[in-house]
Amino acid sequence: MIAATHLQGLFLKNGLPVVAAAAVAAISTAGAASVTLLDEDDVVHPPHYPWRHQGYFSSFDHAALRRGFQVYRQVCASCHSLQYIRFRELVGVTHTTQEVKDMAQDVDVLDGPNDIGEMFERPGKPYDVMPSPYPNKETGRAANGGAYPPDLSLMVKARHNGADYVMALLTGYCEAPAGKEMMPGLYYNPYFPGGAISMPPPLQDAGVEYEDGTEATISQQARDIAQFLSWTAEPESEDRKKNACKYLTVLAFMALSAGYYKRWKWSPLKTRQIAYVKGTHGASLH
Ligand code: HEC
Repeated sequence: MIAATHLQGLFLKNGLPVVAAAAVAAISTAGAASVTLLDEDDVVHPPHYPWRHQGYFSSFDHAALRRGFQVYRQVCASCHSLQYIRFRELVGVTHTTQEVKDMAQDVDVLDGPNDIGEMFERPGKPYDVMPSPYPNKETGRAANGGAYPPDLSLMVKARHNGADYVMALLTGYCEAPAGKEMMPGLYYNPYFPGGAISMPPPLQDAGVEYEDGTEATISQQARDIAQFLSWTAEPESEDRKKNACKYLTVLAFMALSAGYYKRWKWSPLKTRQIAYVKGTHGASLH
């Protein structure tokens, strides 16, 4: 309020340029503030990678999704949950129905209560969610030096340029620069805000063995898991794109026919000619 009155005063006294100058000053101060904030955050922005699935008409690379899921299961799942994904959602995306059934069956799921009020364990079913590594957040924190490994289902949506970020984070571990003190249990990663992350570098060359023979370098695994996590964050995206193609085609036809119909209906009115002929009225009376 005070600022507004102040600006109004400036406007009345000195006209527009002063106000404009004040506004520019205000904006640049705000800009400087946010830049300082980022400097303090000590973060490197990830480069943009050409993800195949980000095109308007392109689908996921499903072989990469399958490899990415393998990386999740064999590496990330020991610390991170994937609680919004059910086994059955993998059917037709990365695995066949039978593969998914077998995979789910290997997991013990806590169910119940049964008739006598007790919880019991049963083999997993395709409708179960992915098993979480820890029974609760506290256990997760205790096992990781106080930092809870966040759920990965929506991670790609939860960070700016999520897929790029995951790729850069996983491949970005390096020696801390001279002068940067690292507390024990923290690892230097320039892509993580602050530079010190509690996640030890999770990927190693040949850390997994891909069944399709792809060489499992760190960057290959990071690329695959980044694509898999893009899928988990938006499993419906392919259906949505496919539907958009259908709907937009039909809409285009409807727009064309509506336009044609409108011109057809209006053509008698738009093309009629009204003529007033002077003097004939009086003449015909006499
Ligand atoms: C040894 C346990 C462990 C493993 C294995 C692990 N992580 Fe983590 N991860 C963590 C912890 C702990 C954090 C929290 C870090 C923090 O807040 O400092 C974390 C955080 C993250 C974050 C979030 C970073 C942010 O911006 O907040 C991402 C993304 C992530 N991990 C991805 C992965 C992926 C992908 C894998 C598998 C390739 C993986 N992690 C394997 C422990 C692990």
